[in-house]
Amino acid sequence: MARVTIDELKAMKRRGEKIAMLTAYDYPTARILDEAGVPIILVGDSLGMVVLGYDSTLPVTMEDMIHHTGAVVRGSQRTHVVFDMPFMSYQSGVEDALRNAGRALKETGAQSVKLEGGAHMAETVRRLVEVGIPVMGHIGLTPQSVNQLSGFRVQGKTPAAAVRILHDARALEQAGAYAMVLETIPAPLARIITSKVSVPTIGIGAGPHCDGQVQVIHDFLGLYPDFVPKHCRQYAHLAEEISQAVRQYLDDVREGAFPTAKESFAMDESVLAELARGSEEALRDESRSLA
Ligand code: KIV
Repeated sequence: MARVTIDELKAMKRRGEKIAMLTAYDYPTARILDEAGVPIILVGDSLGMVVLGYDSTLPVTMEDMIHHTGAVVRGSQRTHVVFDMPFMSYQSGVEDALRNAGRALKETGAQSVKLEGGAHMAETVRRLVEVGIPVMGHIGLTPQSVNQLSGFRVQGKTPAAAVRILHDARALEQAGAYAMVLETIPAPLARIITSKVSVPTIGIGAGPHCDGQVQVIHDFLGLYPDFVPKHCRQYAHLAEEISQAVRQYLDDVREGAFPTAKESFAMDESVLAELARGSEEALRDESRSLA
């Protein structure tokens, strides 16, 4: 089955068809999203925070990303899979970016890569696209720069900052990015950018006017009830459901209500009788040898 291409994603913008992207990091989730018809899955470096337990995305490695993206590709057939380039796999120079993005596609089977940064990353994006690696940009709040940004804050709130982000969007488009994530910027700014660039904008915390939306699946499914980002709508409350299921299991095991015959394997009566005879003989042999 052919996967969704970057041309199909760009055509969705032209047709005014909204693009719903979700993150996934493993095989079973990828299967569910693929079967539900999600056109594009991002294997985000948010992996570091929602799966691996780090407090930022900075520690995530190429090996982590390759391991998880491979599983997502194996779990999907039709969806376009985006490999999120981890911190310092591309910022250190165009050659590193080419080598690591090449590895990403070769070793996982993903169809494109995403990297953070605007105008200053344009040359890197241009070179990747030139060698045949489709790139999704990511501007606004760029979590890999959390220390430089002094936290996970709304970006583009002043006129100068807004103009810079608009300039970043244009630079990415001109460099050949096929789409771009707009993260945590005011909705009116996202609307302006979306109207000014020809490629799809995919928003997260960027309001309703983007060409598409992306959500981190753990937030979206309610797996972290203690922290729900303002931009997130919880479509399920899985932490609660999992916790209830585990409590029920604990009770059932303690009370002997699990497993029952239905969850156990039977044995032929004749085999059982033979086993009983055999164990009697074995016991006799053992007591003889002890005598
Ligand atoms: O890593 C990630 O999940 C992302 C999305 C928030 C866009 O970059």
